[in-house]
Amino acid sequence: MDNALFGIENLDVYIVLGILILFGLIEVAAGYLSRTNRSSNDWIQEVGGFFGLSVVIKPLIVFCAYLFGSYFFSSSQFALSHWSLFLALPFYLLIDDVMQYWYHRSAHEYEFLWKLHRPHHQAEEMGFFISYRNAALYYIIMPNIWWVAICTFLGLAKAVALGLILKQAVIIGSHSTIHWDEPLYKWKIFNPIISVIERIFITPAFHHAHHGKSMIDGISDPNGNYGNMFSIWDQVFGTAKFTRTFPVELGLENDPKEHWTASYLYPVITADNPNSELHRGFKKESTKTKEPIFIELEKGKNYLYCQCGKSKNPPFCDSSHHGSKFKPLLFEAKRTGTAKICNCKITKTGPFCDNSHLDL
Ligand code: FES
Repeated sequence: MDNALFGIENLDVYIVLGILILFGLIEVAAGYLSRTNRSSNDWIQEVGGFFGLSVVIKPLIVFCAYLFGSYFFSSSQFALSHWSLFLALPFYLLIDDVMQYWYHRSAHEYEFLWKLHRPHHQAEEMGFFISYRNAALYYIIMPNIWWVAICTFLGLAKAVALGLILKQAVIIGSHSTIHWDEPLYKWKIFNPIISVIERIFITPAFHHAHHGKSMIDGISDPNGNYGNMFSIWDQVFGTAKFTRTFPVELGLENDPKEHWTASYLYPVITADNPNSELHRGFKKESTKTKEPIFIELEKGKNYLYCQCGKSKNPPFCDSSHHGSKFKPLLFEAKRTGTAKICNCKITKTGPFCDNSHLDL
């Protein structure tokens, strides 16, 4: 059957490569390459990850799933090939995107998945190549790649090809150092347009906030803005944060910067550094105490209160919550002086102690 998009074989691959090259050229022209502080370890993870995914992992999964389907479900092959593109495209894209939202969110909320996704957040600079910076296993078990294979098997190859072009355009655009949305926030005349765009699609500002180092800056939300192509899932599931500004500090707090072999091949290869989350014996210990902590606060200053009970700097967050469902609580001190901050984590008036610990 003819799976060529608009009659041209492999058009989707050419267009995605074209988008990558276009953003690459703009980034180079804007002086990004001469300013970057990326190490060779970073480049290997990002460029290597791109080729690993595009040349090995994705084709292999699609091929294996295709073989499996042809053997066990041969009667279903091309079962949906009569669907029009207008039906097949939203069918493929919407299911793909909601799955990716939950997979990505799970990668922040569950420890093992977090270790596979963590290299993506170690990047201290944005750039479209960081989209491909994850452990190999993260992609191998990613439902979306299997979804591509299933849809192709069912005869929706054209919708998949077109969907991938649209998806990659949004993903590459939101990871790029080119803040294409920034002028649209500044100039009032464009405000109605960007207001609609940001409520539907992921913009650079929305996604850069997800890569911010810590919520303390009032812009970043590493535990929110999980969307991939559409921002609607974050709005529906309560994880959206629209600030229209860009965080200055990106990456992870307390990052031991593992060698790329551990980052890419975890859990087959683990890190040597015992302080690394990718070390075989690494464990986050509880630092909760029954008694509250008395600490000096400064009026008007922002603080991040640890709610997970694993921070090494209690009662404040040090990002040890990554890989759990907890996130810190951002608060502003209303007065200067000593505050009684909860460290048993059962207060109902967080971050302040309400004497709940007396019931323990
Ligand atoms: S370390 Fe961030 S919430 Fe505990």
